[in-house]
Amino acid sequence: MSNRFKSVPVRSSEITPKHVYLSRRDFIKAAGVVAGSMALAACAPEAAELTDAPAVDAGSAKTDELGNPLNSYEEITNYNNYYEFSTNKEAVAPLARNFNPAPWTVEVGGLANKPKTFGVEDLLSLFTQEERIYRLRCVEAWSMVIPWMGFPLASLLKMVEPASDAKYVRFETVYRPEEMKGQGSPFYPWPYQEGLRIDEAMNELAILATGLYGEAMPSQNGAPIRLVVPWKYGFKSIKSIVKIELTDKRPETLWSTVAPNEYGFYANVNPEVDHPRWSQSSERRIGELSRKPTLMFNGYGEQVANLYKGMDLSLHY
Ligand code: MTE
Repeated sequence: MSNRFKSVPVRSSEITPKHVYLSRRDFIKAAGVVAGSMALAACAPEAAELTDAPAVDAGSAKTDELGNPLNSYEEITNYNNYYEFSTNKEAVAPLARNFNPAPWTVEVGGLANKPKTFGVEDLLSLFTQEERIYRLRCVEAWSMVIPWMGFPLASLLKMVEPASDAKYVRFETVYRPEEMKGQGSPFYPWPYQEGLRIDEAMNELAILATGLYGEAMPSQNGAPIRLVVPWKYGFKSIKSIVKIELTDKRPETLWSTVAPNEYGFYANVNPEVDHPRWSQSSERRIGELSRKPTLMFNGYGEQVANLYKGMDLSLHY
């Protein structure tokens, strides 16, 4: 493990205040570039490129380990995929406003010697909350750089002691059709579920995130607790988790049930394997004007490539 990923415990007070990051946006406004809404509207994979505007960057205080500036709090919290609320990314935040993430429990069980139901407040005090700056690459070919707060999924799994026959981990989102109107849609098999192989789940990079920018997780980003698996397409990073189950069977996942030829179980970011309807070789970073090449494993190969040794990743997409 390269030590550039060694994360250190940080108090929220030590994280650069939000206004420092927001200043980048102010600069963009001052420069007269209509960055926000134009860029956001161009987010769909088939959308046209905007290449003629000047590149503007006031130089964020923090970057990821590759030197990419963070996306702003506004960008991260106003452009969301969360089908339980809406399929329209800009409608999610207003619709999620009345979602109540407290009280909240997460049931962790299945093939475990010490299954247990945790209150979210227990998870916040049992595990040191660390900041992790990760790239999030959506399967739709847009991306962001997000400063999450959270703790390794492995720490929680170790606490419940997986049984020797546990091979996979299954995750389930809350089911509240009254509060989440999208769950009334008959096109999706609710609740949202996802899964990882147990060695993937134990990898140091996989975290349960409880906040971002040093603040509690906003509802539209998956309050109060969600998975973040940065080397996989964003749909693996399931939001608002109520259940984590160790199992010996590969879990069904919402997206592979809906469209098995488009969304595989592994869903590792891979610029060489196109989505049947669009290329995955490049991506549009929200808030930027030109595309970037997509990196194998979203740039985290050094940490995760060994999990897939001997597998043909064009077949196991
Ligand atoms: N989790 C649930 N429960 N429902 C969803 O619709 N969308 C996924 C993932 N987790 C989704 C979900 C997709 S496609 C992406 S790209 C990320 O959440 C987006 O996370 P963000 O809105 O915090 O950027």
